[in-house]
Amino acid sequence: MTPRGLAHAASHDRAGSDIHAGSDIHAGGHHAHHVPEPSVHLRGVTKQFGGTRALDAVDLDIYPGEVVALLGLSGSGKSTLLRMLDGLHVPTSGTVTVLGTDVAHARGRALRALRRDVGFVFQQFHLVPSASALENVCTGALGALRGPRFGLATYPRTVRARAMEQLDRVGLAHIAFQRADTLSGGQQQRVAVARALLQRPRILLADEPVASLDPESSAQVMDLLTRVAREDDLTVLCSLHQVELALSFGHRLVGLRSGRVVLDRPVPTIDRAETMRIYQDVAAPELV
Ligand SMILES: Nc1ncnc2c1ncn2[C@@H]1O[C@H](COP(=O)(O)OP(=O)(O)OP(=O)(O)O)[C@@H](O)[C@H]1O
Ligand SMILES: [Mg+2]
Repeated sequence: MTPRGLAHAASHDRAGSDIHAGSDIHAGGHHAHHVPEPSVHLRGVTKQFGGTRALDAVDLDIYPGEVVALLGLSGSGKSTLLRMLDGLHVPTSGTVTVLGTDVAHARGRALRALRRDVGFVFQQFHLVPSASALENVCTGALGALRGPRFGLATYPRTVRARAMEQLDRVGLAHIAFQRADTLSGGQQQRVAVARALLQRPRILLADEPVASLDPESSAQVMDLLTRVAREDDLTVLCSLHQVELALSFGHRLVGLRSGRVVLDRPVPTIDRAETMRIYQDVAAPELV
């Protein structure tokens, strides 16, 4: 276990909820036996798409309950990294272990179980436009149900009740029966979060969840992610383009540049200038 791993694990004690405020290396001693297994464990992960190296020797451990912002320029590998975690991509080399499962080798039942444990929220929401908010939330249960469903009435009553609870939780019980395509962007994204929560995930991945939203709705969605992470003890990994948002969100910031991790620090120890370095020297010009 690395000192940083210990720091994360030790500072994960729920009683001291302002996580990672301390130094990187104070942990140890009596905390050591509380160290949990990481939810997400990457070692030497490289992903090659033809001539493009999207991820390059990535090592990363994320512990249960950690809320991590992932920053990096367009093309730096954020989406590729997130897609590795529920097996949408397999690494070219290296290992990806999520909740104890080696993702590249998981098949059938094991892969389905993993995907139920990993919720996903996307920039473009991906709701069924003609379905109500409530029905969209119900679709979060499809991974656990047999066969297709057509219409709200075809979901079990218990699923509908749980979906209503999740909608209430994201502050949208009052628009449960409104068509998704009539909701504002911020409302649609909160429905998408409720849908992801319905599957009772242990990890929530969000790929630029606020990139299409105005600042006010963005702040609402980010607050929501932070709150549900705390309430459900979720591990959250969220890619973002906005440095300011990343610095006001979560516990830890991971910066990618050209597929490499170039920054990995607890948020309270980081300042804006340091964060901006993620964006420098993306492709150092050969001719200078
Ligand atoms: N399926 C694919 N086939 C070929 N190349 C890909 C594929 N997916 C990603 N890439 C390439 O891998 C690199 C990383 O892409 P990725 O989508 O992970 O970046 P990103 O950080 O999510 O960018 P953005 O901020 O624009 O979403 C890019 O050069 C991209 O073109
Ligand atoms: Mg992306």
